[in-house]
Amino acid sequence: DFAGEMHRDLYGKHVLVTAGPTHEPIDPVRYIANRSSGKQGFAIAAAAAAAGARVTLVAGPVNLETPQGVDRVDVESAREMLAAVEAALPADVAIMVAAVADWRAADAADQKIKKDGSGEVPPLALAENPDILATLAKSPQRPGLLVGFAAETENVVAHASAKRERKDADWIVANDVSGDVMGGDANTVHIVTKAGTTSLETMPKARVAAALIDRIADEIA
Ligand code: CTP
Ligand code: CA
Repeated sequence: DFAGEMHRDLYGKHVLVTAGPTHEPIDPVRYIANRSSGKQGFAIAAAAAAAGARVTLVAGPVNLETPQGVDRVDVESAREMLAAVEAALPADVAIMVAAVADWRAADAADQKIKKDGSGEVPPLALAENPDILATLAKSPQRPGLLVGFAAETENVVAHASAKRERKDADWIVANDVSGDVMGGDANTVHIVTKAGTTSLETMPKARVAAALIDRIADEIA
């Protein structure tokens, strides 16, 4: 049939994607952040939309165009990202690709912190950010399929597998960042589920996205 030919396998489904870093203000001009281009998350949102899903993309600060057919909500901080994610529920599938800052400044300054010339450094107390993935896992509106990402530099599958259990995600896509992937166009990933692990070849982020969306469509069909 037509729908099949067009691979609109996620037609009628709501897919929620987070992408990019979060920025946690220290003062009005400084912030704490993870390194993240947002490219893989945006590619996944694009692939989900191409598969016919209604897609909500909650994006941290990135320099990327909104993919065709995607509803985008821009946020800065982890707490704003959590609020935007909760506002977007319910979702059939949630894919948490964002590189959320684990900590924020406990007391962000209202005015720029000035060097006073004494050579003394200002103290920087941190507070832990909410874990958006773990919060969704416990939510009464838990998505039907909850997918996390984990960028790891060593023991990639073992770390991802432990993370999957700890956060109670259905799947973790383990991203091997031991090479040169940060900000690049290719990715090496392993899809870690309760049943086992599927390792994909190193491929462009758009192809990783398409492969993941195919697998998701199979799962929730
Ligand atoms: N994540 C999240 N909210 C956070 C931190 C992480 O939603 N505050 C999500 C990420 O979007 C990702 C998954 O959790 O889908 C794993 O993130 P990662 O940083 O690898 O996990 P952590 O538990 O923070 O472990 P680590 O100490 O390795 O950073
Ligand atoms: Ca983290």
